[in-house]
Amino acid sequence: MNCVWNSAKAREAEEAFHIRGGELSSVAAAFRFDIEQGLKQNGLSSLRMLPSYVALPKGTETGDYLALDFGGTNVRVLHLRLYGKGRWEIIKKAAAPLRCAIYDYIGKDTPAEELFDFLAGLVDSALDGDNQTPCILGHTFSFPSEQDSLDDAKLIIWTKEFAVQGVEGKYVNELLRRALVRHGFSNVTPVAVVNDTVAVLLAAAYAAEDVYIGSIYATGHNVCYLENFGGRSPKMILNMESGGFSKLVPNVFDTALDARSEKPGEQRMEKMTSGRYLGELYALAVESCLGLDEGTVQAFSGEELSMILSEGAEKVLAFRGIEGLSEEELSQAEALAEAVCRRSARLVAAEFTGTLWHLAEGGMILPQRIAVEGSLYENVPFLQAALHDALVELLSSEAKNVEIRTVEDGSALGAAIAACLAEKN
Ligand code: BGC
Repeated sequence: MNCVWNSAKAREAEEAFHIRGGELSSVAAAFRFDIEQGLKQNGLSSLRMLPSYVALPKGTETGDYLALDFGGTNVRVLHLRLYGKGRWEIIKKAAAPLRCAIYDYIGKDTPAEELFDFLAGLVDSALDGDNQTPCILGHTFSFPSEQDSLDDAKLIIWTKEFAVQGVEGKYVNELLRRALVRHGFSNVTPVAVVNDTVAVLLAAAYAAEDVYIGSIYATGHNVCYLENFGGRSPKMILNMESGGFSKLVPNVFDTALDARSEKPGEQRMEKMTSGRYLGELYALAVESCLGLDEGTVQAFSGEELSMILSEGAEKVLAFRGIEGLSEEELSQAEALAEAVCRRSARLVAAEFTGTLWHLAEGGMILPQRIAVEGSLYENVPFLQAALHDALVELLSSEAKNVEIRTVEDGSALGAAIAACLAEKN
């Protein structure tokens, strides 16, 4: 590719991703405002504030459960054994990508039955074909869904560019139950559906105290928290669907990305923060520096962004045919990747801060942990540092009361805990 890098455009693009301290604080305040508006009345807020019908576990939950973890690029079914007090083990695991060279269970040409048959096939693998022994299944379904009890959830709208036909508006455990029966697995009973943020919070609270906020920072992004409804009991976890938060000022790249996405106008926060989109934003910014038409540079993956941040931009750009940049141009390309990622981390910090302010009810932020799971957050150390710095900037000395704790396998473990809680109720 004939590459002429425009340094002025690069500086402009970098600036477009910059959020100043005062603006960040306003985002956090607007986020808190939307939480409180959303609690008053649906439709007053850009946050969906979806009840999960589950409270925190006591840590005494035990038993064998199947956990279906569905919602990212891979789907997993795990047979888990809970021992209580945060102890658990994986007995068996089956996993597969939802899209590969020979099939696609994400796109709009896939009917619902095919997707759920694929999920039932994974249950079959996790059980080694055992269609006799009774099994209780918890389902982590990582999309905005409406619930009126823990046992099922109706998909409101697909996110993360999923487009399978015939699932929006349907109850997903019902679709799963039917697929399991089609596959001869009437012994498997799905009893609970939780969002992945809720699952992560359940998993963290299974092992530790003082954790009230859960978040996913991966292909998708979202935050949930334990709402105390003015001190009334029982407290319930609310899935905010924070990826839909919209009180943000998009730059030209955000606008271009949104316009060509599956759902323009939706998930504005998620499109500025999550792994599904950061590499695409970066590609759009690189195109503008090179004066190329939109769509010429293929979206970068999370790993590629991570590589640019740790080893420099040269190799990754060369892989896209972008070669011959000077030292200075390469460092501009690196600064641009940093700016895209830093903005993401700062916005996530603003969401956490808005939630902490809401929970503190105008008082001091109490010592607590925030549970986070996600490939993006775990694999990009730059993001962890940028998030921490932004929390200090927003919360000053109170930031020391907040520890970000990563949770491994939280979305699967949380499904098993939810199944246990549903069964015991
Ligand atoms: C979904 C959320 C989910 C998040 C992380 C978003 O696209 O709307 O429900 O929690 O991704 O997986």
